Amino acid sequence: MSATASPRRRILIIDDNPSIHQDFRKILSAVEGSTSLDSLETAIFGAPQSRAGGAYSFEVDSAAQGEEGVQLVEDASREGRPYALAFVDIRMPPGIDGVETTARLWKADEDLQVVLCSAYADYSWEEVAQRLGINQRLLILRKPFDNIEVRQMAHALAQKWDLSRQSRRREEELAQAVTERTRELQATNARLRQEMEDRAKLEARLAQSHRREALGRLAAGMANEISSPLGFVSTNLNHLRLALEKQTGGSPLEDPAELLDACREAIEGMERLKRIVQDVKLFARVGPQPGVAVNPRKVLDDSLARAEPNLGPRIQRVLELREAPDVLASEEALAHVFLNLIVNAAQSFPESHPEPRIRVSLSAQGPDVSVEIQDNGSGIEAEHLEHIFEPFYTTKPGGSGLGLSICHSIVTGFSGDISVDSTPGKGTTFRVRLPRAA
Ligand SMILES: Nc1ncnc2c1ncn2[C@@H]1O[C@H](COP(=O)(O)OP(=O)(O)O)[C@@H](O)[C@H]1O
Ligand SMILES: [Mg+2]
Repeated sequence: MSATASPRRRILIIDDNPSIHQDFRKILSAVEGSTSLDSLETAIFGAPQSRAGGAYSFEVDSAAQGEEGVQLVEDASREGRPYALAFVDIRMPPGIDGVETTARLWKADEDLQVVLCSAYADYSWEEVAQRLGINQRLLILRKPFDNIEVRQMAHALAQKWDLSRQSRRREEELAQAVTERTRELQATNARLRQEMEDRAKLEARLAQSHRREALGRLAAGMANEISSPLGFVSTNLNHLRLALEKQTGGSPLEDPAELLDACREAIEGMERLKRIVQDVKLFARVGPQPGVAVNPRKVLDDSLARAEPNLGPRIQRVLELREAPDVLASEEALAHVFLNLIVNAAQSFPESHPEPRIRVSLSAQGPDVSVEIQDNGSGIEAEHLEHIFEPFYTTKPGGSGLGLSICHSIVTGFSGDISVDSTPGKGTTFRVRLPRAA
């Protein structure tokens, strides 16, 4: 706003005496810069360029009665051209008095600044305050009034009216901004929740398809694995049958030692088949499961006890079992995992190992529980390391190669994970992480 374009504010005079209307009009409509009032005003409100925001020109309306004034204020408000200020006479017979008028004015427009004018001590300030409430929009002016005082009041109250409207607008804007921001945050929240749900669904579908893939590989591996023991079982059995047929045909029996060997081989083949079938059964049973709260310490103790025959007296056990919360799993499946890892560790020591040692540790780590099974055995060569979780991958003569793939299925089925760290010649550490039960 430029220094010359002073803002125009509306003032309403409510007084039963028409000559007072004229007085106010004269005082408030004085041409700027043309009277001594202006130099005084400049002294009060500052130099012209700073007056831009502080000085006003006024449009003055008048009413002779309180009701008429209230009507004007209501109309002005409705039309969006509100009054900034009203000078209200206290006594206005025969109508309502100035205090009552003021109360009604504020009902019509809560921003309106009011100056109550009185020639008499009609009301004490306390009485007025009591009727209207302690109020910052109210001043009292004694008649006969001083022109400068009136003009000064008009400017000060017009500015106050501006400021209070500005601050209210600002508050409304802030409240609006807060509402919008809250709405945005809620929308973002909802979106995030939806994304998380979608992700969980996707992960479940992915786990399902991984499992189908693993089962497919398992079936293929199983056909492959089974064909060789089946082959020599049937060769040996045929051999035995032929020998027995010869004997029942009257020919002398072949070397019994050789027949016994054939028998043993067939039985060994059957044993291998049995082991494979057992592991496959277990593999086929595991899969994503809801899980219950399981005490990992108890399961570890259990698995260690069950592994005793595989450990023997020579292997040193180091147990670091700290307090840990329950995990979401199944006791039986988890025991199977730990037992497998301990037995693998026990099988990692060459005969000649001077100091075979297995360390088992349990600890809580953030939202998870971690179990480590570490050995100082042979370690795993890089070329094997990348395959050890595949079904039927084994480096052991007579091994099924299903142990780790079953462990992997079980642990991931309970939303955990299993990882390995190994240095050939130094040893291996398997780490199982499971989410704690809520
Ligand atoms: N603690 C370990 N130390 C060295 N090698 C290991 C260890 N655990 C597993 N392995 C390797 O991983 C392979 C796969 O193990 P697993 O699935 O349990 O089948 P299996 O024990 O029948 O061979 C093993 O043949 C071995 O080569
Ligand atoms: Mg094994």
